[in-house]
Amino acid sequence: MKINILTLFPDMFTGVLQHSMMKIAQEREAVQIDVINFRDYSANRHKNVDDYPYGGGAGMVLTPQPIFDAVDHLKEEAASSPRVILMCPQGERFTQKKAEELAREDHLIFICGHYEGYDERIREYVVTDEISIGDYVLTGGELASMVIVDSVVRLLPDVLGNEASHKKDSFSTGYLEHPQYTRPAEYRGYKVPDVLLSGNHKKIEEWRSKESLRRTLNRRPDLIIEENLTQEQKKWLSELQKETD
Ligand code: ADE
Repeated sequence: MKINILTLFPDMFTGVLQHSMMKIAQEREAVQIDVINFRDYSANRHKNVDDYPYGGGAGMVLTPQPIFDAVDHLKEEAASSPRVILMCPQGERFTQKKAEELAREDHLIFICGHYEGYDERIREYVVTDEISIGDYVLTGGELASMVIVDSVVRLLPDVLGNEASHKKDSFSTGYLEHPQYTRPAEYRGYKVPDVLLSGNHKKIEEWRSKESLRRTLNRRPDLIIEENLTQEQKKWLSELQKETD
């Protein structure tokens, strides 16, 4: 996968992209990430990238030219047509499903504004997706794009050592992940559930599925869609609901 990030603050990305899984993913050549300062594309002799809004009002608006030109340039070099993703609080709310969808692409371009709004023509003629990472306003799209890049890159083949490790993630299965324990079996008198020490894999899987459902019911009941549950899960669900009544 190729990822381009258009920003006025490329240095914001150095820490995040040069550590842990993002670093490993690039070393393994699962992804090539280039952070580009779109001010470099400004045709203006002062390298300006924003201007006052037509009709008046507070704040500045990012002008179309540097962003149109930067995206055109990246598309010229591209083998396939990229998804062009605008970071903004008005966008579609980001989910694990969207991360999985983006992980199937060959090329993503992120556009990050900072403080300013975007000239509407950028939305209309350049962008394929507008994404928000939640219902709150950040000072810019940079942090939001880092969140998305991280969640997409970890899904690429060969990035997480154990292929299975993201298949059971919270949300991937539609439910929150079950509780996990490691050694010691007893710590300060607090014990690991007996079933996990039993060696009975069928029982362990059953416990995990049930606990995953319990956790989802307690924390995110909105994720439970009854018609998608198996007969067994429906039975557990009614048991769990009785427990909390
Ligand atoms: N830019 C500012 N706030 C944002 C948000 N919540 N999501 C994505 N981009 C943003």
